[in-house]
Amino acid sequence: MKKMNVALTASALFILVGCGASNDYTPPADATGENIFSTACTECHKPLSANVAMLLSESMANKEAITKKFQSGSMRMPAFPNINGEAADRLAEYVLSHSDTN
Ligand code: HEC
Repeated sequence: MKKMNVALTASALFILVGCGASNDYTPPADATGENIFSTACTECHKPLSANVAMLLSESMANKEAITKKFQSGSMRMPAFPNINGEAADRLAEYVLSHSDTN
């Protein structure tokens, strides 16, 4: 029982700190980039208009940087390690083609 409490406390701390958080969302095989974005990302990234899903900084405005961001996360954004392969490619393509650069 004591071990269990230690484990629970450790995971609660992990969630509270948030840093290094991971989201286990896994996209369905046939999901489009838009499907994935509206399911997994709009909770935090509210689309600016019908055609603009995100505002990207210049260094982020390429598929490699976008993919790295959602697969690795950051201090304030969870990582999505299960968005891989073609789904990752479709999501990065969607974000890039539906973004403005600031
Ligand atoms: C829990 C909230 C949250 C979720 C969910 C989330 N993000 Fe983020 N995202 C953030 C925050 C906060 C930032 C700004 C801080 C940073 O860049 O680390 C950010 C930054 C980004 C950036 C960098 C923008 C720039 O130009 O600096 C990209 C790209 C991005 N998110 C893509 C995504 C994608 C794609 C998804 C869905 C798979 C997603 N995010 C889901 C919170 C979230």
